Amino acid sequence: MGDPACLWDPGPGEIRSVLKPKRLSNWGSALGGLTGAARQGKLSVRALTVLDSRSLVRTLFLASAVRFELIGHLGTDRSADELAELSGSRRPDRLRAWLQVGVDLGELRRRGDRYRVAGRRARALADGDEFLVAHYRSMLDYQVGPYAELDMLLRGDPDWGRDDLDRYAEDIAQVSMAATPFVSSMVRRTLTELRPARVLDVGCGSGIYARVVLDSDPSARVDGVDLAEKVIVTARRELAEAGYGTRAQLHVGDIREWLPRSEVRFDLVMLLNNIYYFDRARRQEIYRQLGTSLTDSGQLLLVSMTTPGSIAAAHLDFMLRCQSGTASLPQFAELQSDLAAAGYETIEVRKLVPTEPFVGIRARRRF
Ligand SMILES: C[S@@+](CC[C@H](N)C(=O)[O-])C[C@H]1O[C@@H](n2cnc3c(N)ncnc32)[C@H](O)[C@@H]1O
Repeated sequence: MGDPACLWDPGPGEIRSVLKPKRLSNWGSALGGLTGAARQGKLSVRALTVLDSRSLVRTLFLASAVRFELIGHLGTDRSADELAELSGSRRPDRLRAWLQVGVDLGELRRRGDRYRVAGRRARALADGDEFLVAHYRSMLDYQVGPYAELDMLLRGDPDWGRDDLDRYAEDIAQVSMAATPFVSSMVRRTLTELRPARVLDVGCGSGIYARVVLDSDPSARVDGVDLAEKVIVTARRELAEAGYGTRAQLHVGDIREWLPRSEVRFDLVMLLNNIYYFDRARRQEIYRQLGTSLTDSGQLLLVSMTTPGSIAAAHLDFMLRCQSGTASLPQFAELQSDLAAAGYETIEVRKLVPTEPFVGIRARRRF
């Protein structure tokens, strides 16, 4: 982040005091600094840096508020002493300094010695918005890790990688929900055209798309399979609470081992946001294996971010490659050629998000 002074942002009180005649000399030095920076051609790049720093501080502040569970306490007015007690803080000066960051960001409001959430993001977090909570938690948990450890990731043991995909599986499942509206619309259109009786949701995560299927067709049955036990336990409970009963069966396991043990043939297999977990060299094999579980008129619906094409895609691809194993984002052309090589013909290709290389492909087996 560099010089913390770049973060200085005069509030209205400070501007007024700077304007007082006895402090006019401050203007002189400020102007001198500005013209000096401009002469060196550095003004615009420094302005950009200041803006970047502010976004970073906001993200760090909100991420720490989530990680240390302070955000929940700040949903109502709290004094600094109450917050110190609630959070077990033994350094009230540090807590106050942290609260002041929130106030200056506009995420907290301070009245006298009492604080509460004020900014839109902080309010949504205090209200328990699951996606935002997972998003901010992920910032300190795994989004910064690959950058902070770049040295080791590049120069250390080439077989070593991070374990974020397992460790943060629950948060990853929640963060994936950002794509839900875009993916859901393709899932619904597929359901309307295909009317599948049996659906397999590979790497079902939170079960969000299993739910889209169950909601769209009261006679459809879904099997979901996911490696992450914790994710499945939560998804099972939520589906049961929502009253889907036996129409949804969620299984813990690796799809490559689960599939040969299943005798069910599916009218629709959904592979949503997870082909990139599989080694590039093994993807055709996965498509072939999934193909054997399809009915004759069955279809595969594959949705994935691809690369290249956006900052988000580049970041995700980098993160995936920093994990142990062989995860990486697919290229769009590669998805299509792998499907063709595995015996599929493409029925429909859609770009699901206008600004991202995020695609949906529907395919069926060639006979
Ligand atoms: C990014 S999440 C996507 C979850 C969900 N499909 C969605 O779009 O919200 C990817 C999921 O695939 C699961 N997964 C990865 N490899 C798998 C495998 N070999 N078998 C089953 N599940 C797998 C992960 O555990 C993770 O929950």
